[in-house]
Amino acid sequence: MKKIGFIGLGIMGEMMAKRLLNNGYELVVYNRTKEKILKLGDKGITPVESPAEIVKNCDITISMLADSKALENIAYDKNGIFNNLKNGFIHIDMSTVSPSTTLKLYSDYKKQGAYFIHAPVLGSKTQAGDGTLLIFAGGDKSAIEKCEEIFKVLGKKTWKFDSVEKATILKLAMNSMIATMIVALSQAFVLAEKSGIPKEIVLEVLENSALNSAMYQNKGKTIINGNFEPNFYVKHMLKDINLVLDLALDLKIPFPVISSIREMFVQTLSKYENEDYSAIYKTMAELAGIEI
Ligand SMILES: NC(=O)c1ccc[n+]([C@@H]2O[C@H](COP(=O)([O-])OP(=O)(O)OC[C@H]3O[C@@H](n4cnc5c(N)ncnc54)[C@H](OP(=O)(O)O)[C@@H]3O)[C@@H](O)[C@H]2O)c1
Repeated sequence: MKKIGFIGLGIMGEMMAKRLLNNGYELVVYNRTKEKILKLGDKGITPVESPAEIVKNCDITISMLADSKALENIAYDKNGIFNNLKNGFIHIDMSTVSPSTTLKLYSDYKKQGAYFIHAPVLGSKTQAGDGTLLIFAGGDKSAIEKCEEIFKVLGKKTWKFDSVEKATILKLAMNSMIATMIVALSQAFVLAEKSGIPKEIVLEVLENSALNSAMYQNKGKTIINGNFEPNFYVKHMLKDINLVLDLALDLKIPFPVISSIREMFVQTLSKYENEDYSAIYKTMAELAGIEI
């Protein structure tokens, strides 16, 4: 039996933990809200009260957390990972967080003879459940090699980098595209609708064109069905937009599209906090005077 730690049972973490359990892993699990651990059932699960207990019981842990603050909490709290590290311990964080956070964790752990790998993912709830995530793994080569089997269970392909930063930044580059694409789709829907052309026609044209993508088809269908159940919360999309803009400023790279759509996501957050990021369509439709 392969025993590893798992921290963070949100939308993604729950699916990833279930996938690992179904593939023969035994999990030592910590989540800030304890009750969520019950969703995993009891087979192969050891719930614990702190990340420190994971370090005591395992050699590797995964974390899948909301943001940099959450990751820093579970790492640097008194009963967190860092203060209880043992030699050779591997922490794979798969959340989308800032490059400064991943660099700090990498160098702090290294000083203690332990390893921090940043392995953010592209793909959502469905891909987390069926093990088809795309994984960008950055960190020490020897540590990444020890985790290869875990990456194979969770993802269909893993790109490996010798620095944590490259993995962190590649994920942010991908999410800058997701933010841009959902706005592009929503704009086209709103313009067509306002002129009496149904959204279905827009999606059908896209499907037959060189512009098509699985993302447009998936999100286009859920928007048409009025389904804004969260797969990826608006607040996390806004977090990633802020991370992209901070990074772009650090690197002195203009990011005009992301800068200009940020406000629209802020408005969406104020109204649709617990919905999917595609609720940005509703904000744009409302501003255009379209009844939804
Ligand atoms: N959803 C997606 O499609 C998707 C795809 C790719 C990447 N991501 C990234 O993956 C990460 C997780 O996404 P998600 O959709 O699973 O998010 P989520 O549903 O909001 O889950 C967040 C998790 O972080 C924990 N958490 C939040 N604040 C914390 C804190 N201060 N201290 C300790 N734990 C804290 C939550 O614990 P509680 O249960 O106690 O709230 C929960 O376990 C995010 O970085 C997101 O950007 C998401």
